Amino acid sequence: MAKKAIIGGTGVYDAQRLKNNEQQTMETPFGKTVYTLGEYGGDTVVFLPRHGEGHHLPPHQVPYRANLYALRELGVTEIYATAAVGSVHKNLPPGSLVVVDQFLDFTKSRPVTFFEDGNPVTHVDMTDPFCGRLRKKLAKSAAEQSLPIVYGGTYVCTEGPRFETSAEIRMFDRMGGDVVGMTAVPEVVLAKELGMCYASVAMVTNYCSGITGDVLTHQEVLDVMSENVHRIRDLFFHTLLA
Ligand code: HPA
Repeated sequence: MAKKAIIGGTGVYDAQRLKNNEQQTMETPFGKTVYTLGEYGGDTVVFLPRHGEGHHLPPHQVPYRANLYALRELGVTEIYATAAVGSVHKNLPPGSLVVVDQFLDFTKSRPVTFFEDGNPVTHVDMTDPFCGRLRKKLAKSAAEQSLPIVYGGTYVCTEGPRFETSAEIRMFDRMGGDVVGMTAVPEVVLAKELGMCYASVAMVTNYCSGITGDVLTHQEVLDVMSENVHRIRDLFFHTLLA
């Protein structure tokens, strides 16, 4: 059984550093999911690239329920996720790593729960959506490696795949948002519904729309991610040993 999983976001597509990797597919009641099982530090670890092979799944079409269902079936209890995000604040520049602790949900069209279609109606508590225990582990591990992180921050989840308007970003700023991405919801919600601990490290790849006046491109997001992804890997793999 695998206890720990990494969900790779934009720019984090392979199971580097896991040993004896084996790619597997699971058919779930919510569709198919593809992941890699490997070994690290004596444990079986699952690596699941959220956007699929070659990044072919846009944020609103990621099979979130299939992914989380499969992880639970594999015995996973701890999930470390990554996400590329834009920054709402001038003093939170590209390259920053944020261990987010809250979200604001602006998604519109995604399946958001396991508790429907005949399953008992359940309203899961969302006071602290991201697992405090895993967030502390990440912070300790970052400190041990002298890796600067921002501990805490509010992730605004938009529907995408378009980027935001400048007015939306001004609104998110006033509402208390810090970073903006397109995938944390419903991922963290579904993990909580299934009783799995979930933490996310957001990598700031750009300033959000309207902050600098520059036009935002997906290539910019990919470029900044690939320059910095080694820091997320260092953080995750150090934390997996904790
Ligand atoms: N907005 C939404 N999602 C993102 C961004 C952004 O600016 N950057 C990376 N993912």
